[in-house]
Amino acid sequence: MQENNNTPIILALESSCDDTACAILRGDEVLANLQASQSIHERFGGVVPELASREHMKHIYPLVSEALQVASVKKEELSAIACTRGPGLIGSLIVGVNFAKALALGMSIPLIEVNHMQAHVAAHYIENKPPFPFICLTVSGGHTQLVLVRERLNMELIGETLDDAAGEAFDKAAKLFGLPYPGGPQLDRLAQRGTAKFPFAKPKVDGLNFSFSGLKTSILYFVQKQEKGFIEENLTDLCASVQNVVVEVLIEKLTLAAESYGINHIAIAGGVSANSELRTRIQELGTQKGWNTYIPQFQYCTDNAAMIGIVGYYKYLSLDFADLSLAPIAKWSI
Ligand code: KG4
Ligand code: ZN
Repeated sequence: MQENNNTPIILALESSCDDTACAILRGDEVLANLQASQSIHERFGGVVPELASREHMKHIYPLVSEALQVASVKKEELSAIACTRGPGLIGSLIVGVNFAKALALGMSIPLIEVNHMQAHVAAHYIENKPPFPFICLTVSGGHTQLVLVRERLNMELIGETLDDAAGEAFDKAAKLFGLPYPGGPQLDRLAQRGTAKFPFAKPKVDGLNFSFSGLKTSILYFVQKQEKGFIEENLTDLCASVQNVVVEVLIEKLTLAAESYGINHIAIAGGVSANSELRTRIQELGTQKGWNTYIPQFQYCTDNAAMIGIVGYYKYLSLDFADLSLAPIAKWSI
């Protein structure tokens, strides 16, 4: 975009789960996009909410300072502070929202609330900018959503999971196979060397909704019936088989959505959109079906603050500000 002195500079904070993230955007240009991960949860095999909040408190101030340095921006130059209001872990959200409120109050600049799930979709406005309307499959550790995006921030939920999210299915399967948390990325890497030869049943739900909780149980029963050492000997094939079922379900529902709504601009978003098999299959299907497909860069798939910043930027342009009574919300529809 054309830069001038009036282009807003937004500082964005994301703290909905276990990563503290801070980004600085000038207009829609990302000047800094930093993250502090929390390895403390690995030994528990999942995110421990209380520990996550404490880690956010440790990381947030140094991360904001570093982001200002990386972006070469002085805090006096900031136009507004955007933060994730929800959905997410309430303790984690409280840290980010309160830090954002204090900074906005201290600098006498506006505060902007951002819905984390909207932001995953909006990550596309940083680079690809799909035309409206488009359909986005948002797949993360906590959500699996089919979203009809009518206009930039006008989004309608047209399908979602009835139980576990796709990322959760990957993480739970990975845990069963003895892989460290979060297992999704490792399962993906191992699957690349395996063959999808184990016939895990595809969960069946009508319409545009999903269900993944039965898959975990069927994997568990399957491995329990095998000889000792089976998992170690067949790890890559097991990973490939799980990945194949999850990706097949996602692709089927996405195709149904595209056909039902007659839309051929198709995007994916969220942590699971980093999955190599999903990315390849969406591209192949796009070519077959004549879709225009939009796949985010890896840094904008998993949780990041640049996606919060881009929503912040567009809300800033429409003067959509929050007041200082803003409270985080754990459950918040798109
Ligand atoms: O969007 P995200 O970073 O956080 C949430 O909002 O939940 O998504 C995290 C999820 C985790 O379940 C993680 O295992 C999964 O995304 N994930 C992957 C891959 N990279 C991240 N799942 C499969 N393949 C990957 N390459
Ligand atoms: Zn997320």
